[in-house]
Amino acid sequence: MQNLIDEISSAVATAFKEAGYDETYGKVTVSNRPDLCEYQCNGAMALAKIAGKAPFMIADDIAAVLKNNTMFSKVESVKPGFLNLDLSPEFMAERMNKMATTKDFGFEKTKNPKTIVIDYGGPNVAKPLHIGHLRPAIIGESVKRILRYAGHTVYGDIHIGDWGLPIGLLITELRRRKPDLPYFDESYTGEYPKEPPFTLADLEEMYPFASAYSKEHEDYHKEAMEVTSQMQKGNRAYRALLDHILNLSFADLKINYGNLNVDFELWLGESNAQPYIPDMIKDLEDRHIAHESDGALVVDVAEETDKREMPPCLIRKSDGAALYATTDIGTIMMRVHDQNPDEIIYVVDKRQELHFMQVFRVVRKAGYVKDDMKLVHIGFGTMNGKDGKPFKTRDGGVMRLSSLLKDIEDEMYNKIMDNGDKDEKEARENAKIVGLAALKYGDLSNQATKDYIFDIDRFTSFEGNTGPYLLYSIVRIKSILAKYNAAGLSTEGKKILPPANKDEKDLMLKLSAFSTMMEGAAAEYAPHKICAYIYELANVFNHFYHETNIMSCEDKDKQAGYILLLKLTKEVLETCIDLLGFEAPERM
Ligand code: ARG
Repeated sequence: MQNLIDEISSAVATAFKEAGYDETYGKVTVSNRPDLCEYQCNGAMALAKIAGKAPFMIADDIAAVLKNNTMFSKVESVKPGFLNLDLSPEFMAERMNKMATTKDFGFEKTKNPKTIVIDYGGPNVAKPLHIGHLRPAIIGESVKRILRYAGHTVYGDIHIGDWGLPIGLLITELRRRKPDLPYFDESYTGEYPKEPPFTLADLEEMYPFASAYSKEHEDYHKEAMEVTSQMQKGNRAYRALLDHILNLSFADLKINYGNLNVDFELWLGESNAQPYIPDMIKDLEDRHIAHESDGALVVDVAEETDKREMPPCLIRKSDGAALYATTDIGTIMMRVHDQNPDEIIYVVDKRQELHFMQVFRVVRKAGYVKDDMKLVHIGFGTMNGKDGKPFKTRDGGVMRLSSLLKDIEDEMYNKIMDNGDKDEKEARENAKIVGLAALKYGDLSNQATKDYIFDIDRFTSFEGNTGPYLLYSIVRIKSILAKYNAAGLSTEGKKILPPANKDEKDLMLKLSAFSTMMEGAAAEYAPHKICAYIYELANVFNHFYHETNIMSCEDKDKQAGYILLLKLTKEVLETCIDLLGFEAPERM
């Protein structure tokens, strides 16, 4: 189904042609003066010079042609040369009925479907998820859903950090505590136990201990480095321990990401890319793409047009260790091999911008990706506390994600209980659903690149531009629909009727903007566009609801038309919140 704005534009373009003008000037936009008209065309103004005519004369000519078009109820030529347009109620109703009965509300999938890998996890093994993992998870999941809705094949990859010193530290600490385990017996050649020699809780306690201890004890640090390097070279015992660590971590991550309504298709990590690295380094050396610099191996990535300093990309340190960039280059090679994507998107803190610029340049320079492969870094801003500094726990520590979720859920629970007589169990369940929406909407309604302030009180409010307000609007529609059904009424064979007043029409106009909005959200990886849209949609719906007697309406055709319109509104809102990664409860 053609987008409304395109359909109007092509009607106006045809009128330009019929009146003897260049049709490319027939572009229409949503009016920036909604008090005067719904849509406007400024083409006559632009055309005036070229046509050698006063703009209002051109506008008059176009208006004369358009007057006969049933699409419009008002066509006005306004000096100095604007065309003001209102859509006719009949056209509007037809559009709504089509939208309500067409798949995806008439939104057309991309004509150029791509295979896309999106990297939006980045947790590190044995470290619990903390609030630094919140934004990539929320934004990445939403971008993934949006791109999929637009018709692309999208793989989400958790890309867990499982290759560095933290593993060495854990193993070193384990050896200190339990030196008699077979993993530490060099003469041991049998199978290693299937059961891990630790629990996740052990690991979570051991890691910070080992990390702090290694900072004070040089030998311990050296040992951990050595263990890391052995593990990376393939030491059988350490690999077995790494597998235990990963299994425990993944099980826990699945639960925690699950609580956020976030899921990945690919549960891979830095370690999976390692097989690609030795050949890659050799290749970069053989083809002289990389060169030695102070004992390290680097690739120059600076370009003449650079406005900022662009240091060379470090591939291998002088001690032989591979680096973060090395792993990311290897991971790109792995993805090319496994998924052969047209595009890879990284949803990672914007402070890593330089890192990604370097990595992208190396893979292009070396020809590891096809020329038209798109590499995108969606660098998100920081979630700050009310003091404007990065959000911290009360005692200044890094907050666990689970604590943050718990806090928001508790706050939501209190608000729900304050709101009226609820049974506690239902309030608890709803607090979970609505709390998550509050958190996600609070995040996603900001442009991803910007910093924002985590304001639990505002996020959980039922009023204003918040998640709970949106859910409340959906639940309100659900309850009207339930009442309608309970009264034994049915919309069978009925249609949405032409709008009888402005509130009704405003709701229809907003609904019609869905496809154009979705195209923009997908093209710009912009969940905030969906947020802005559903907030406006919820507002016009609530307006309509307050001004209209729906259940007491005597005219059953009219009433059924309202109900169908509300059903469409609900479905659009539900689709949108699903793309944002949350859902509405049955009641609130
Ligand atoms: N684990 C990394 C960190 O904690 C984030 C990984 C982001 N993804 C990537 N492909 N580099 O900073």
